[in-house]
Amino acid sequence: MNNTKPDLSLVIAGVNFKNPVIAASGTFGYGSEYASIIDVRKLGGICTKGLTLMPRAGNRGVRLHETPAGLMNSIGLENPGLEVFLEKELPRLRSLGPAVIANLSGSSIEEYTEGARLLDASGVDMIELNISCPNVKAGGMSFGLDPEAALSVTEPVRRVLSHKPLMVKLSPNAPDLVALARACVNAGADALSLVNTFKALAIDIHTRKPVFENISAGLSGPAIRPIALRMVWELREAFPSAAIVGMGGISASVDALEFLLAGASAIQVGSATFVHPATMIEIIGGIEEYMVKHDFHSIGELPIR
Ligand SMILES: Cc1cc2nc3c(=O)[nH]c(=O)nc-3n(C[C@H](O)[C@H](O)[C@H](O)COP(=O)(O)O)c2cc1C
Repeated sequence: MNNTKPDLSLVIAGVNFKNPVIAASGTFGYGSEYASIIDVRKLGGICTKGLTLMPRAGNRGVRLHETPAGLMNSIGLENPGLEVFLEKELPRLRSLGPAVIANLSGSSIEEYTEGARLLDASGVDMIELNISCPNVKAGGMSFGLDPEAALSVTEPVRRVLSHKPLMVKLSPNAPDLVALARACVNAGADALSLVNTFKALAIDIHTRKPVFENISAGLSGPAIRPIALRMVWELREAFPSAAIVGMGGISASVDALEFLLAGASAIQVGSATFVHPATMIEIIGGIEEYMVKHDFHSIGELPIR
């Protein structure tokens, strides 16, 4: 047992995080929505809802559907567009304290690069390139399944960024995740995050139709955790020195610790915040307790390989 306070802080691609716990995209709004519910300042980082160049209304019909130990969503990247985000949301988000990650999406390479250009000149700390959204017809996950397609968007986005680091968010639906990650690293990604949601299906037996208008939707929550963990492990094995941010079903500090031990540099928490908004605060406390108990001094000592 060590009596000094462990150091939970870390640096990813030049960005300082006071601890490794980050709110996942699409599950924490633009941060200020939660400011009256939890002490948002304690978080390591906040990742915004997926942003696009132009506003998007999102998908019609059912958008959320619960499954055993999981949540299916088909939001369809509803967001006010980058201009409104930068003008209205970012100042509020910035003032909260945690590192700010902007999750960027698009339906074409031009849209991605234009969005990246705007974010590069803004006050965000990092860009998370979303090439893994399963809920939009154009763009999104279609760039995140095949290494060449991933390269075709990551490379031009990297080229327009001169101030901000780039993290690429990978899809667990890619047939060869390591090959996909390698393409992103070769294209200049400074960090990788995984996993986005798994493509899944639900059928309403009363209407005898799929629950979602787009037929499939993205599955998240505890149901996906062991698969996401295995993917983080495999990427750490393939890229021993890459910055890797792991997520997928993390709901408690034991889950977060599994990811950190498997080699994640930091973690994100999504669906669990809907169930219990203080989850991330409790996870930070749990990681600290574990480090004290097991005599870890800094967060970088946790990975077991
Ligand atoms: C309602 C909802 C909306 C989401 N929106 C986005 C998004 O806009 N961009 C993105 O990259 N991921 C989005 N995600 C995926 C999460 O950021 C995360 O990758 C995924 O849910 C797995 O983590 P979890 O099991 O902790 O929720 C969304 C997830 C949910 C549940």
